[in-house]
Amino acid sequence: MNKTKRLLLYVLSLSLAISMSACKTQKHKAEVFIYNAQDTFIAKMADTLQDSFPKNYSLKFHDGKLSQNAQNEQIVNALKNGCKLLIVNMVDRLSSASIIEKAKSENASVIFFNREPIKKHLLNAKNAYYVGTSPVQEGQKQAMIAQNLLGDADAISPLIDKNGDNTLQCVFLQGEKDHQDTEHRTYSCINYLTAIGYRVEILAMDFASWNRDEGKALMERYYTQFGDAIEFVFSNNDDMALGAIDYLRENGIMTNENIPFPIVGVDGTKYGLQAVKDGYLYGTIVNDDAAQADAVVRLSRYLSGEIKFSEIGLTFTSERYIYIDGPVVTKDNIAKYI
Ligand code: BGC
Repeated sequence: MNKTKRLLLYVLSLSLAISMSACKTQKHKAEVFIYNAQDTFIAKMADTLQDSFPKNYSLKFHDGKLSQNAQNEQIVNALKNGCKLLIVNMVDRLSSASIIEKAKSENASVIFFNREPIKKHLLNAKNAYYVGTSPVQEGQKQAMIAQNLLGDADAISPLIDKNGDNTLQCVFLQGEKDHQDTEHRTYSCINYLTAIGYRVEILAMDFASWNRDEGKALMERYYTQFGDAIEFVFSNNDDMALGAIDYLRENGIMTNENIPFPIVGVDGTKYGLQAVKDGYLYGTIVNDDAAQADAVVRLSRYLSGEIKFSEIGLTFTSERYIYIDGPVVTKDNIAKYI
């Protein structure tokens, strides 16, 4: 081969290599919109999403800071800039129809997560899915934790039934009003306990917006009113349960030696798990961020045309919903999680 031919071959193979590597690094773009970066579980979920996407995706995150107007603007700008995949944690769940419509008019798809769209909005859409936890199961699992401690419904353990009336006096710390997890966790817990024969007296039930400080203030209100008549605390998430524990510990009501009543949460955040290990939080249910992020990635790969629908490998409810269940954690199995 003469010198010119060799040079030509070299140039050709070099340009082939360059174009192949350009193909490999070709990125899919997705933008992620979260309702509030101050929310402990959502901050964790955002990190997990970032870690779970394959390298051929570039993600851009936006914080709605509790304002649906701000989030709408972020979404409109993303669509204007050509984004075809929106991953949305809505501030206000009632916005699902308008987000779906905005995306549709730009030929884009939406994966909602954690804050569930209104059913008829999602079922009418062709370009949208939802990934979330399984709040009905979580409420039932909180009830099962209680069941283990209560024992026989006709002779509740005196360790819990402090006044011996064979009725569970309890309080609920609820998350945000109108959040699907608030509703389902609360009512499936109560329904499960009553369906298996327990007498349940709800002393009080109010909202604390998933927030530790608000959970603390609500516990102060409950304890001031009911004191040791409280036999059990069900919290819709770990942060509010931790707030309740803050109040009880700061006031000497809960100590290492004296736990006045069991408190259970949901999420299994690192602070929640630590409190289980330390014995202050009796138990929690894992809100599985890794499995939810994995489901978002699988749907993204499908919506970006990388895989076929039959290759997604997820179980859908009503065609467009994916609910991910998580395990119970108490002191008995905490070593597996911490
Ligand atoms: C979590 C809460 C979180 C909320 C935000 C729930 O699933 O349990 O901790 O604050 O989602 O939407």
